Amino acid sequence: MSTVPKKSLLDTATQKMVESQLWRSLFRHGYPDTPLNQSLVMMGNVFLHLHPVKVSRQAMKITYTWCMGGITFFLFLLLTITGVFLMFYYVPDTNLAYQNITQLGSAVSFGHLTRNMHRWAAHLMVVSVTLHMIRVFYHGAYKPPREFNWVIGVLLFFFTLFLSFTGYLLPWDQIAIWAITVGTNLAPYTPILGDPVYKVIVGGSAITQTTLVRFYVGHVILFPLVLALLLAVHFWRIRKDGGAAGPPPPSRRELEARAERATAGAARQ
Ligand code: HEM
Repeated sequence: MSTVPKKSLLDTATQKMVESQLWRSLFRHGYPDTPLNQSLVMMGNVFLHLHPVKVSRQAMKITYTWCMGGITFFLFLLLTITGVFLMFYYVPDTNLAYQNITQLGSAVSFGHLTRNMHRWAAHLMVVSVTLHMIRVFYHGAYKPPREFNWVIGVLLFFFTLFLSFTGYLLPWDQIAIWAITVGTNLAPYTPILGDPVYKVIVGGSAITQTTLVRFYVGHVILFPLVLALLLAVHFWRIRKDGGAAGPPPPSRRELEARAERATAGAARQ
């Protein structure tokens, strides 16, 4: 006589819940204890689907990436949020800009904090994106199949610098005006295109109101938008390439040396 183990009340209730239409419409997969269900969990969730289903254990170590890409992304989000707050007070007018910025520190609640968070995060983002780029290069993660993402990364690097450069003019103080004067004076030296490049960036023959508006639009709309689009492609590509690249597999010479050491060790015993 076969004895079928009786299901507990909890098991029956769990099964009923998991099989219900509400559950299946929300989760669309069973408990993630099989490779198929694990894949379905990753693909059926808008947040999890950003990650590849399988990643190398080595590449997950914090000491492998130092999370420099993640920190750069965090800083970008922080800059976007603090930037939106600053936009409530800042007017890109040469007669008002400097006054707006100084008043942030005295007349606006948390204005000084918000401005400094924005400024420091901007400096840190330039540092972290550079370190991220060095890390990727050092690990040879720019090699196939990740060469496309390296190119996207180079664009991200330049757009980060464009954001930093355009933001520098906005306070309209002496250091901003003269730093941008020096920076934009490099533009006429662009091969072949020369002067027109300067005119497009500055909007005339000197740093004026037109320049401030150009830099403002670039800083708050154009460059963040392009950066966000490039980031979406960057993250999608990381996922498609199977997450961060782990260390390369050992070379044949290394494997042979290991085998020799193991044989020598066994012979000694
Ligand atoms: C706004 C700038 C950037 C953000 C937010 C960002 C974000 C990330 C994140 C989160 C990762 C996952 C691994 C990690 O954290 O290191 C990653 C990987 C990667 N990034 Fe970036 N990144 C940026 C710029 C760059 C730049 C400038 C380059 C190179 C020129 C680059 C090339 C790559 C490559 C090739 C990978 C794959 C690395 C691997 O497989 O080990 N990224 N990025």
